[in-house]
Amino acid sequence: MPEAIYSPGLEGVIAAETRISFLDTEQEEIVIRGYNLLELIRKASFVEVVGLLLDERLPSAERRAELERAMVEAIVPPVVYEILRKLPASMHAMDRLRTAVSALAAGDSEANSAHPESEHRRAPRIIGQVAQIVANLSHIAQGEKPEAFSPNYSFAENFLRAIVRRDVSSHETRAFEQSLIAYIEHELPNSTFAARVVASTLADAYGALTSAVASLKGPLHGGANEAVMHMLLEARTPDGLEQLMRDKLVRKERIMGFGHRVYMRRMDPRAQLLKEVLHTLIQAKGNGYIYADMCQRGEDIMRTEKGLYPNLDYYAAPVYYLLDIPIELYTPIFFAARTAGLMAHIIEQHQENRLYRPRVIYTGPRGLKL
Ligand code: CMC
Repeated sequence: MPEAIYSPGLEGVIAAETRISFLDTEQEEIVIRGYNLLELIRKASFVEVVGLLLDERLPSAERRAELERAMVEAIVPPVVYEILRKLPASMHAMDRLRTAVSALAAGDSEANSAHPESEHRRAPRIIGQVAQIVANLSHIAQGEKPEAFSPNYSFAENFLRAIVRRDVSSHETRAFEQSLIAYIEHELPNSTFAARVVASTLADAYGALTSAVASLKGPLHGGANEAVMHMLLEARTPDGLEQLMRDKLVRKERIMGFGHRVYMRRMDPRAQLLKEVLHTLIQAKGNGYIYADMCQRGEDIMRTEKGLYPNLDYYAAPVYYLLDIPIELYTPIFFAARTAGLMAHIIEQHQENRLYRPRVIYTGPRGLKL
């Protein structure tokens, strides 16, 4: 066995070899299968990036149409909605989602297969099912009927329309789609690592995805986007936010939406892009300027007081708010987008599997007698 190195939180540890993505902090580039994520956010559709992740190349027009059809027309097994209806509406949306993702196995005759080809074939359907479940989490909790996706709209437009239950403009759809691409894949965060750890036992995709939902709920990870919105709403004005943040800093509390294990002392490139998306959305809608002003004030304070920069969740929150998306769905939407990246990782893990089984430094007692 090579000499063991202990790094709390596995900070700086290389835990996988992957062809999927890489955070190149030196070149300030998020590489997704060879492409720069920021360019994909600016120029590609969500479905194209799903194709890129699953097929290792950008899809042809024909493949793109096939993927979009599979995602839009995916059917959520009725039992999943039945289970969701039985859960208390007071249960956290991510807990309801975790239960639903686990139950998705009920509608899949190949549910127990950890075969990469089978997973690759089923992945578009699973991505579409998760999006439909997320779009309907709040509707079902309110005792209403789930909204179905329609072949008349793109995947991104369907997803947003089903959440807000109204016609959406092209600039709203594009802002939402860009947020989905920003969230789609990001190397080896806690949730992706959790999914790969579970997949490495040759457990199936539903188990691996369920573990990822559990991980993503945490406020140090995906849960930060909804926490950011609650903070902005509590603050109400740039001055209010400045006061609130300064009070939190005095109390040594963490401020959600700032910092990142990999980018810690620089801006998350995705946050810079979502900031642009927020500004474009505000211009197009002609309202919401206050959120841009508040976010800028918060950014300035954190940079000068703590040397910390925003992460993606900081700017995704006001974008979703201006799209009329219920706050409880912010983290589930992150998961719905990330399902594509997770499926690529689960497939890759099963293609080149090595069981994750690290060791420990034992700090407990020894030699106790019964
Ligand atoms: N607010 C205040 N102080 C912070 C923050 C923050 N958001 N983030 C880090 N720090 C401080 C921390 O207190 C520590 O200071 P000191 O050295 O004086 O004790 C220093 O920065 C280093 O922090 P750390 O906890 O050792 O760093 P980490 O790599 O474990 O934490 C993090 C990364 C994302 C968990 C952390 O920055 C954080 O808690 N941020 C807020 C939650 C958040 O926005 N999460 C979303 C992450 S990005 C999207 C995603 O992947 O989900």
